[in-house]
Amino acid sequence: MVQFDSVLIFILFSSQVSAEVYNYSFPTNFAFGVASSAYQIEGAYNEDGRTDSIWDYNLHEKPSWVIDESNGDVACDSYHKWEEDVQLIKELGANFYRFSISWSRILPSAYKDTEVNEKGVAYYNNLINKLLDEGITPMVTIYHWDLPQSLQENGGWMNATIADNFVFYAKTLFQLFGDRVKHWITFNEPIEICEAGYSSDRKAPFLNAAGVGGYICSHNVLLSHGKTYREYEKLFKPTQRGQIGLSAASYWYEPKENSGLDAEASHRALLFSLGWYIHPLVKGNYPPIMIERIDEISKKEGFAESRLPKFTDSEIEMIRGSFDFIGLNHYTTVQGTFGTDFPEPSAYFDCGVKSSVDPEWEVAPTSSWLRNVPWGLRKLLVWIKNEYGNPPVLITENGWSSTATLDDTDRIRYINGYLLSVLQAIHEDGCNVLGYTHWSLLDNLEWLAGYSARFGLVDVDFNSSNKTRTPRKSYGVYQEIIKSRRINP
Ligand code: NOJ
Repeated sequence: MVQFDSVLIFILFSSQVSAEVYNYSFPTNFAFGVASSAYQIEGAYNEDGRTDSIWDYNLHEKPSWVIDESNGDVACDSYHKWEEDVQLIKELGANFYRFSISWSRILPSAYKDTEVNEKGVAYYNNLINKLLDEGITPMVTIYHWDLPQSLQENGGWMNATIADNFVFYAKTLFQLFGDRVKHWITFNEPIEICEAGYSSDRKAPFLNAAGVGGYICSHNVLLSHGKTYREYEKLFKPTQRGQIGLSAASYWYEPKENSGLDAEASHRALLFSLGWYIHPLVKGNYPPIMIERIDEISKKEGFAESRLPKFTDSEIEMIRGSFDFIGLNHYTTVQGTFGTDFPEPSAYFDCGVKSSVDPEWEVAPTSSWLRNVPWGLRKLLVWIKNEYGNPPVLITENGWSSTATLDDTDRIRYINGYLLSVLQAIHEDGCNVLGYTHWSLLDNLEWLAGYSARFGLVDVDFNSSNKTRTPRKSYGVYQEIIKSRRINP
């Protein structure tokens, strides 16, 4: 007994939660899911009429973008193995499956008013119908980074006309699948689409227009989101009765020093990342601090006007309130401190916050940016509650990258810690959290990290022709959490 007590005290102390937290359970309407995205799992890149996305095009042109020179040509082969995937989700007991649709599989010519590809439609119909047969709710991400290459050749997200093409694509999905799909996410992580893709070369299309590209792209993404939401509201919602959100990515920024300056810097970094997208949705426009700083710095740099585009009054009206839930992708925490060592022009310079990590925080074996800091999620949920009036938040991604081992105790530690934080945010802070989505069901193509970073509850043997799937230890733990609706100490 003495021994047991000391182990328990050690665990409680080391994870910084009270014993009481283990008595909390997830509310009855709280939903659990798993997530994936088309390019990362489907493969079949040129089958049945699908055309190239910016990822196919760029990774074929220059394989060395990816550390192991891999690509998504085959990936997990989910285009052929989707029934096995659904079986795994069913056995897990998940309430919903968040997956994305490949734009160029549905509309190979990509532009508005072009023809739908019936074979692509059949693939998603089969998947959706099977999920529903098994009692799993489908949740669809309309855009998870795989822009058709033909649109990129016309400027991609830098060209304002893309909104018409996106709205056409989204409406096509509502028409085709909206009788059965009631949960839609327009965009996954606009900051990655735009900052990483257009301001740097960390994501396709590798445009590297720092300080300019990310702002223009984000503006067009937000307008596309708002227009899509309003079209759905007008034409589909009265009969389909679904819900639409957008998934924004955010770290928690913890002030590095216990000082007013670092607290202010960390708050500003949150407004420049999560607020960049959520502020417009909730309040109609970018955070005032972004508008002011970018305007001032742009002028000092000699630009004729702010590098941050402006919304018109009617656009503000359209965007304000264009969500039924806020999707939150959260993985980790960094420390924020006042100052900058970034070149101009750049969004980082505009923000003026340096980030670092506490070396004590456990680091993921295959992703150096990812540290296990569970309390960061709780603080972020409270920040959203206070900043935005406690909107409904769905955690649309959270996960850990291990090695290929089946004995993934590090992932188990991460899941337990982050879900305990969610329980505290709900029970102690009154945060409005609708559910939790683990990234990911399967190991998959982790973008430029290729197949080296393993995010799956299920291991995939990428060397086998069958892409053999084997559940890890964490799969069993998550299964148990979903069943018992609490965390087992
Ligand atoms: C965010 C992205 O949505 C997803 O595609 C990616 O694999 C995970 N985070 C892990 O980095």
